[in-house]
Amino acid sequence: MKLLVCGGAGFIGSTFARQRVQEHGDEVTVLDKLTYAGREENLQDLADDPRFHFVRGAIEDREAVAGAIEAASPQAIVNFAAETHVDRSIAEPDTFVSTHALGTYVLLEAARTLRGTGEHALRYVQVSTDEVYGSIEEGTFTEHSPLAPSSPYSATKAGADLLVQSYFHTYGLPALICRGSNNYGPYQYPEKLIPLMILNALYGDALPVYGDGMQVRNWIHATDFAAAIGHVLEHGQPGEVYNAGGPDEEANMTVVRRIVELTGAQESQIEHVTDRPGHDRRYSLSSEKVRALGWSPGVRFDEGLEQTVSWYRDNDWWWQPIRSGDYRAYYERQYGRTLQP
Ligand code: NAD
Ligand code: DAU
Repeated sequence: MKLLVCGGAGFIGSTFARQRVQEHGDEVTVLDKLTYAGREENLQDLADDPRFHFVRGAIEDREAVAGAIEAASPQAIVNFAAETHVDRSIAEPDTFVSTHALGTYVLLEAARTLRGTGEHALRYVQVSTDEVYGSIEEGTFTEHSPLAPSSPYSATKAGADLLVQSYFHTYGLPALICRGSNNYGPYQYPEKLIPLMILNALYGDALPVYGDGMQVRNWIHATDFAAAIGHVLEHGQPGEVYNAGGPDEEANMTVVRRIVELTGAQESQIEHVTDRPGHDRRYSLSSEKVRALGWSPGVRFDEGLEQTVSWYRDNDWWWQPIRSGDYRAYYERQYGRTLQP
C-alpha cells in the first residue's frame, strides 16, 4: 500500500510508519510540520529505506498537502498530526484549534478531491483519542458513548472527529476514526507523564504528581495502538469509529511508584502539586469492535513500563537534546521550577 502519514515524525506516527514499512512492506510518505514534538530522529532507522519519504509541511497548508499528495500518490491518508499535550492546550489553545479544525479540514478536502472509486477509493483514517468521551468513574466507554470533552485539546480533537464523520455522511468519503487510550513507549516527548517521571527520577528531580494522583489511565503500548490503527486501515468499515484501549488501568500514583522502583530513585522525590484544571478522573475504553477485526494488545503494562525505562536509560542521545533545549523553558513555565542541569 502507498500511504501518506501526516504527523509521522511524532511518537505514535513514527511507530506506525516503522511498522508499515518494516513489517508490512508499505511505501510511506510522512508529512510533518516538525513542531517541538516532531523529530526526524524518530524516523532515522527508515531514512535510508527507499520505501520511505519525508516532506516537511503543515496539514493546514493547502500547498504543502497538495505537494505531499503528489509525492506520495497515496491509497490512504492516515492523520496523526496534532498538538497533543493537555497542559499546553490549557495554557495556549491557539494551535490546537488551527491544527485540529483547519488542518483536518484541509486534509479532508484534499482527500475528497483526490478520491477514486470502488476498490481504488482513497481511505482516510483519523487518529483520535479516548479523551473525546470525557471522564468515566465506572464502566467503560464504547463507540456509542456521547462526546463530552473537557479540555481545549480534547474538544478540538472531538471537533475534528465530527468533521471527519460529516465527510463520510455528506460526500461518501471512506473515512474511519480510531480512538486510542493513553500511549507509552520509546520516543515519547518527555512532557508526558511516563517519560517525564523517568527522566526526573534518573536526575534526582522532584516527581510532580497533580492533585491526589488517584486519576486512572488506561495504558496502551504505542506498538499496540499503531497495530490497531493498521487493522482499522485495512479491515475497518468506512464511516465507523473504533476504540483501541490498552489491557491495564493504573492510578497515576501506582505508575510513579513503579518508576521510582525501576529507576532506583527515592520515594521522597514524589511531590503533590496543584491539580490540572478540569482534570479528567478516569479513562477506560472497550475495544471489542477493533478486536473483532483481529487486533489484540500484546504488551502488558508492567512489562512495557520496564522496557520503556530501559529504553530511556539506553537512549540519552535521543532525549538529551530535548532536555537541554526548549523543554527546560517549558518545564519552568509549567511547574515553576528548574530542572537539574
Ligand atoms: P506527538 O505530539 O508525539 O506528535 C505529533 C506530531 O504531529 C509531531 O510530529 C508534530 O510535528 C506533528 N504536527 C503537529 N502539528 C502539525 C501540523 N499542523 N501539521 C503537520 N504536522 C503536525 O503526538 P502523539 O502522541 O504521537 O499523538 C499522535 C496522534 O495520536 C494525535 O492525533 C493524538 O491526538 C493521538 N493520540 C495520542 C495518544 C497518546 O497517548 N499520546 C493517545 C490517543 C491518541
Ligand atoms: O488518553 C489519551 C490521551 O493521553 C492522549 O489523547 C493525549 O495526547 C496524551 O497526552 C494523554 O493525555 P493525558 O492528559 O492523560 O496524559 P499526560 O501524560 O499529560 O498525563 C497522564 C496523567 O498524569 C494525567 O492524569 C495527568 C497526570 N500528570 C501528568 C503530568 C505531565 C501528573 O500527575 N503530573 C505531570 O507532571
